[in-house]
Amino acid sequence: GITRHYKFDIQMTNVTRLCHTKSMVTVNGQFPGPRIVAREGDRIIVKVVNHVQSNVSIHWHGVRQLRSGWADGPAYVAQCPIRTGQSYVYNFTIVAQRGTLFWHAHISWLRATLYGPIVILPKLGVPYPFAKPYKEVPVIFGEWWNADTEAVINQALQTGGGPNVSDAYTMNGLPGPWYNCSAKDTFKLSVKPGRTYLLRIINAALNDELFFSIANHTLTIVEVDAVYVKPFDTDTLITAPGQTANVLLRTKPSFPGATFLMLARPYATGQGIFDNTITAGILEYRHSDASSSPSSSKKLPLFKPSLPSLNDTTFVASFTSKLRSLATTQYPAKVPQTVDRHFFFTVGLGTSPCPRNQTCQGPNGTKFAATINNVSFSMPATALLQAHFFGQSKGIYTPDFPITPLIPFNYTGTPPNNTLVGSGTRLVVLPFNASVELVMQDTSILGNESHPLHLHGFNFFVVGQGFGNHDPAKDPAKFNLVDPVERNTVSVPPGGWVAIRFLADNPGVWFMHCHLEVHTSWGLKMAWLVLDGNLPNQKLPPPPSDLPKC
Ligand code: C2O
Repeated sequence: GITRHYKFDIQMTNVTRLCHTKSMVTVNGQFPGPRIVAREGDRIIVKVVNHVQSNVSIHWHGVRQLRSGWADGPAYVAQCPIRTGQSYVYNFTIVAQRGTLFWHAHISWLRATLYGPIVILPKLGVPYPFAKPYKEVPVIFGEWWNADTEAVINQALQTGGGPNVSDAYTMNGLPGPWYNCSAKDTFKLSVKPGRTYLLRIINAALNDELFFSIANHTLTIVEVDAVYVKPFDTDTLITAPGQTANVLLRTKPSFPGATFLMLARPYATGQGIFDNTITAGILEYRHSDASSSPSSSKKLPLFKPSLPSLNDTTFVASFTSKLRSLATTQYPAKVPQTVDRHFFFTVGLGTSPCPRNQTCQGPNGTKFAATINNVSFSMPATALLQAHFFGQSKGIYTPDFPITPLIPFNYTGTPPNNTLVGSGTRLVVLPFNASVELVMQDTSILGNESHPLHLHGFNFFVVGQGFGNHDPAKDPAKFNLVDPVERNTVSVPPGGWVAIRFLADNPGVWFMHCHLEVHTSWGLKMAWLVLDGNLPNQKLPPPPSDLPKC
């Protein structure tokens, strides 16, 4: 591979959407941010310089970061944030991955405006395992707030209530014609007939899983989270924040001047923080004759897709059951066949008591909180990876994250009152190369809700999923250990569970959290500490000299 250099200047820029201009944090003044393009095997070096008042850090979402945990990015986990006037060089290699990922800020809610695509092409001379596309187009979903998003989350945390929902969903940063004042801010994809386009779809929204569909066109899913899958056709894609997908779009033989809507809108479950609006883009067939301008041609109707209903869990379950690893000799599915460590994690929302002399806006005057195994994770004052590497864990973290819930209960029945047991900075410690099985169970404390859980530093295999309470006596017999999908973010179904397996072959401290940003803010997060192995190539190297200090 070769080395590719990028410079990210974090700066304030005025951006206007919905007739509202705000000064917001950007990379190089661009929104969405610049695209990183590399081939499998390349080294990527990004110099990030912070010119704004806020602390920042950047995460390369889905990049495995094999023995390069110092470049992973989550603030107070992998590194201390980059402070005003400071810089940090992220240096990592793309090992055995190709497809679409994305980068985003990983501190507070800054990822609302700081995000962009990562395109990883196969090694030179290695073809895709599907027909070569005529063109490749990133399609990145996001959310736009007219207000400053830091103010939105700070106000929610101070009052204990839910944050204000966004004012629009966006497609490549553009809300589209169905929002006030946005007709000119519409993503248009101009296509030729009879060609195959590769759409690199990224869900960078903060708080919503999204359905996506193009009128009168079929999408062929060929890759998710930078891993090839067995291709399958669908009218609609479901994608959670943190998930990516490559889909093939075959254009019709001839349709000059025809236009089709591409729509994305939320899949909303439980207490979801969602805004029931739709972002629209336009797929437009070029006129074969360049001289005929659109105004002179007869106006064709704008075709509109029908999307699943807002809470169509049946569609989502059916879609996810179709996702399978390619599992060929060239792209094998290396599913761990045996398990060294079993974990059972509950994930869900709850409430905590309102502090005296305060009025709280959560359910029944409480504060919203979220937990894994009844523990709401508190962010430390220094980076966990640093504390671990330099043997300074005292007062920063404890290695005792519970491997099962502190209070077991009927997760899909009536919950007890005291499900929130407390908060802490507790880690799971894993020996190098441990084979891990983790079952994640949604709790219905505040209603059933889908939680997209993201694991840093690893891909995992989704070996099973179901509704109701996970049954450890019956369910494992049905696990798929042959061709389960391999990914970095999976939704725990509302009122259900999901089982994943991964090999802990990457030493370091690795964050795992709900990628619905508001749930992360409420504590739905934890971290794994994977110890060094015995061989030199099984150890985390020392940090770069410019690693930021807290
Ligand atoms: Cu995409 Cu921890 O994040």
